[in-house]
Amino acid sequence: QTVQKFPTDKQLESYKEKTATPHVLTTSTGAPIYEKKAVLTVGPRGPMLMQDFVYLNEMAHFDRERIPERVVHANGAGAHGYFEVTHDITQYTKADIFSEIGKKTPCFVRFSTVGGDRGSADTARDPRGFAIKFYTNDGNWDLVSIYIAAITKYSLQNNQHFSFRSNIFPSFIHTQKRNPQTHLRDPNAMFDYFGLRPESIHQVMFLFSDRGIPDGYRFMDGFGSHTFKLVNKVGHAVYCKFHFKCQQGNKFLKAEDATRIAGEDPDYAIRDLFNAIENGDFPQWELNLQIMTFEEAEKWEFNPFDLTKVWPHKEFPLIPVGRLVLNRNPMNYFAEVEQSAFCPAHIVPGIDFSPDRMLQGRIFSYPDTQFHRLGPNYQQLPINCPFATKVHNYQRDGFSTIHSQDGCPVYHPNSFNGPQELTTEHTKEHVFSTSGDVCRFDDGNLNNFEQPREFWTRVLKEDEKDRMVKNFAGALVACDQKIVDRFIGICAQVHSDFAARLNEAINNQMGNATDPKARS
Ligand code: NDP
Ligand code: HEM
Repeated sequence: QTVQKFPTDKQLESYKEKTATPHVLTTSTGAPIYEKKAVLTVGPRGPMLMQDFVYLNEMAHFDRERIPERVVHANGAGAHGYFEVTHDITQYTKADIFSEIGKKTPCFVRFSTVGGDRGSADTARDPRGFAIKFYTNDGNWDLVSIYIAAITKYSLQNNQHFSFRSNIFPSFIHTQKRNPQTHLRDPNAMFDYFGLRPESIHQVMFLFSDRGIPDGYRFMDGFGSHTFKLVNKVGHAVYCKFHFKCQQGNKFLKAEDATRIAGEDPDYAIRDLFNAIENGDFPQWELNLQIMTFEEAEKWEFNPFDLTKVWPHKEFPLIPVGRLVLNRNPMNYFAEVEQSAFCPAHIVPGIDFSPDRMLQGRIFSYPDTQFHRLGPNYQQLPINCPFATKVHNYQRDGFSTIHSQDGCPVYHPNSFNGPQELTTEHTKEHVFSTSGDVCRFDDGNLNNFEQPREFWTRVLKEDEKDRMVKNFAGALVACDQKIVDRFIGICAQVHSDFAARLNEAINNQMGNATDPKARS
C-alpha cells in the first residue's frame, strides 16, 4: 500500500472527482469512437486495413508529439499568477502595469535550469531561469530574468566578441552542454572557458558558493540582470535594474544533498512548486528597482551596461514596487509551460532597452529560436497571446494560423479602416542620441576582479569561503592540470588567499581521491 499525500500523487484521482461521468471518446475530428482497444483486421488473425482512421488518427499524432526542446533552459516548471503594485513609481515610468497602487496584472512564470536537457536533475549547480510574462493592457511585457545574483551568464557583456557573427554565446553554452563525442558533460570545457574569459569569475564564484543550488524554485530571488530604461509620461528616462526578492526566504541545498536528491527525485523543484500552489501555499516575490540617472551613468566608475557588474546597494538602494504571486498551476504542462515563449524584446510603453549589448543581442535570438521551436504563429497560442489587449496587424498566414483578423485589409496604409497607429505621447518611444565610431570594441578585460574581490573579502564569511573553495575543488579535480592552473591564475587575480586555498583544496581532494573521474 503506497501513501499518496501530495497533490502531484493524487492528480488522477482529482480528475476523476471533478469528472463524474466520462466524456464520449472521439477522434480528433470529434467523431465518436465505437471501439478503441482493437484495430480493424481481416478476421481475428489477418492484416490491418488502411481505412482504420481511428488507428491512423491516433498514431499519426503520436508520432509528432515531441518538439525541439529549448536550446538552453530546456528543463523547467511554470505557474500562473498576478503582479500587484504596492508603491507608486509613476515618476519613473508610464508603463500601464505600474499605473496605480493596487493594480493587478495577470502573469505567467517559467522557472528553469540552464544547461541540462529536458528531464535533467532539478538540483544541478546551475543558474536558474526566472522568466515572467505580464499580460498588460498595453500588450505582453516579458522580463526574462535569472537567479544567481544580479549578474549573469558568465561574461559576454562588455565583450567585443559578442555579435551574431562571432558566436560567443553559443560557444559558452556549448561548454555547459554535452561533449559531442562522449555525450557527457565536460568539466575541461567549462573551466577552459572560465579561464579564458576572466569576466566570468564574478558569477562563477556565486555559482560555487552556498547559494549555487537553490532549494527548489520557490526559495530563490530573480534578477532582470540587464540595465533597462524606464520612461515616464513626459518622456523623461532613467536606467533601472529589476530585482525580485523571494518572500519565502532564500533556501539553498548543500552539494551532498543536491547530489542525493538528483538520484532520488530529479524532478524535485517541479514537484515542489506544483504541490505548494495546489495546497494554497502561494509563493510570492517583492519586485524592487534600482534606479540610475543618465548623469550618474555617465560618471559611474563601471560601465552601467556591463552585465557582469552589480550596482552596489549603498549607492543604488532597492526601491520597492509591488508583489508577484503565483496561485494557479498549469492545466496542461505542454500547452502552457513547454509552449510558452518569452523574449526580452517584448517590451511595452514606459519600458525600453538600454545600450547593454547582451540585451540587444538577445532581441534577435529568442524569436528566431521560437519560430523554429514552435512555428511562425506561436504568439497566437493561448499561453503567449496578449489576451489583455487585442492584436490587430498586417501579419497573415503561416502554419497554424488561428487569428482571423476579421476580414480586415492586409496592407497599410489603406482606405478601408484597417488598423492605424496610435500616435500619442504614451506610445512614443524614448528619443535618445548616440554617436561614436563603429568598431568591434574590446573592453572585455575591464574591471573584472574588483567586485569579485569585494565579494571574497567583504561578503563571504570564512566558513562560506571554505565551502566555496571545496565546491570548486570538487569540480576541478576532474580537469587537466593546465586548465586547473589557468583557472587558479584567474582566482589569484581576485585574491591571493582565494587562489592559495583553492590550490590546497584541490591537492587535498587529489590525495583523498577515490572518485574515478579524478585526474590520475
Ligand atoms: P552589500 O553588502 O550591500 O550586498 C552584498 C550582496 O551580496 C547582497 O545582495 C547579498 O544578498 C549578496 N550575497 C551574500 N552572499 C552571497 C552569496 N554567497 N552569493 C551571492 N550573493 C551573495 O554590498 P554591495 O552592494 O556593495 O556589493 C558588494 C559585493 O557583493 C559585490 O561586489 C558583489 O560581488 C556582491 N553582490 C552584490 C549584489 C548587489 O546587487 N549589490 C548582489 C549579489 C552580490 P542578500 O541581500 O540576499 O543577502
Ligand atoms: C532562454 C538565448 C542571455 C535568460 C533562452 C533561449 C535562447 C536564449 C535561444 C531559448 C528560448 C526558447 O526556446 O524559447 C540567449 C542569448 C543570450 C542569452 C543569445 C545572450 C546573448 C540570457 C540572459 C538571461 C537569460 C542574460 C537572464 C538575464 C533566459 C531564460 C530563458 C532563456 C530565463 C528561459 C525562458 C523560458 O523559460 O522559456 N535564451 N540568452 N538569457 N534565457 Fe537566454
